[in-house]
Amino acid sequence: MGKKILVIEDDLIATRLMEYILKQRGYQVLTAPNGLEGLKIAREERPDLIVLNVMLPGIDGFEVCHRLRAEPRTAQSLILMLSGRARQIDIANGLNMGADDYLTKPAAPSEIVDRIESLLTQKAGACSKIIAFISPREKAGTTTTVVNVAIALAQMDKRVIAVDLGPGDGGIAEHLGIKPQDAARHFQKALSDTTDYDALESPLVVHQTGVGVLRLRTSAGEAGDIATDHIDRLDRYREATDFILVDLPFQPSAATRAVLSRCTLAVIVSTGTADALTGVKSAITVLRFLGIPQKRIGAVVTDPEGTFPEGELPQLSSYVERNIAVDVLGIIPYDAGHKISPGRAPIILASPKSTTAASIKELAQRLTAEEIAKNDATRNGVKRA
Ligand SMILES: Nc1ncnc2c1ncn2[C@@H]1O[C@H](COP(=O)(O)OP(=O)(O)O)[C@@H](O)[C@H]1O
Ligand SMILES: [Mg+2]
Repeated sequence: MGKKILVIEDDLIATRLMEYILKQRGYQVLTAPNGLEGLKIAREERPDLIVLNVMLPGIDGFEVCHRLRAEPRTAQSLILMLSGRARQIDIANGLNMGADDYLTKPAAPSEIVDRIESLLTQKAGACSKIIAFISPREKAGTTTTVVNVAIALAQMDKRVIAVDLGPGDGGIAEHLGIKPQDAARHFQKALSDTTDYDALESPLVVHQTGVGVLRLRTSAGEAGDIATDHIDRLDRYREATDFILVDLPFQPSAATRAVLSRCTLAVIVSTGTADALTGVKSAITVLRFLGIPQKRIGAVVTDPEGTFPEGELPQLSSYVERNIAVDVLGIIPYDAGHKISPGRAPIILASPKSTTAASIKELAQRLTAEEIAKNDATRNGVKRA
């Protein structure tokens, strides 16, 4: 079930528009035409976030905000204030009353939704970051990227879980040479009690590097049948980890959507061929359609076949960036030694001094920094001093 958002707004047309957009993004939407009704609904429904207009008939938005914060039942809801008053003093006033963010009207619906999403992810971001790796094509090096980045993050002392929903054969466990467990089976038995650590730990297989592996792919290799309940359970791991990396199939399944809706960042993994880049473009369109803001989408360019001569990849990366309008977060070059040895360890362990390993580490660093940059970006907006 999507997050619950309450819109307190007296302008009926603005309310309907917000309701429509938010519902399309999968949120549950409640509306109230004035402050008192808004307070009543907030008490009863305890929404995750409240979009609060300042100019309201009866008590104004500042007062509503104050009352919401004063009451324990409603104090936890995020509040995004919306007002035609652009004066700095009003913004300060709103934030002093306890609003989490403040937006001046007129604001484009897309901007309002962006703010809502960054507030919600920021709140979720108190725990781990979920990063989804998807590829419009198979054999792009997606699983290789997930596995190696997971190890690189673990080497940086991060607590990492790699979740396998990936398509095709050769899952995360196989790449790591460990025996996979069927987490879905464990989850089925698990109690709904969040403190049941046994239920959380038993489906995890921990690799010697410290990376925990959670296999949620079905035996058929199709993610379509994975219950979204299982994806919901991922949230329970967030407190105890820094990163949850998901090897995600690019399929229109409920499970895929459930992961995408809660991920901090969606990384499209692709080779640099013209044909593959067309796939990247449509992948971005699909992700945007699913409600992922552009700034939460990134790309990684890979070369699993050694198609590009050395030195050409960086050039390719800027070409890609110009053409697809999302950041290229990393480039992972071909590792010639990797292909030859069967049953080999992940590149970062087998050839830690290679340029491929260095690129992977750089990408891991970027993903850590990316989070910091993102949180800062929201803080640099109008926020409490
Ligand atoms: N940078 C690389 N250098 C050499 N081989 C690679 C590299 N990246 C991936 N491979 C190999 O390419 C094949 C496909 O990679 P994989 O990560 O399984 O792709 P996907 O998960 O996208 O299907 C695997 O055999 C893998 O070992
Ligand atoms: Mg794979």
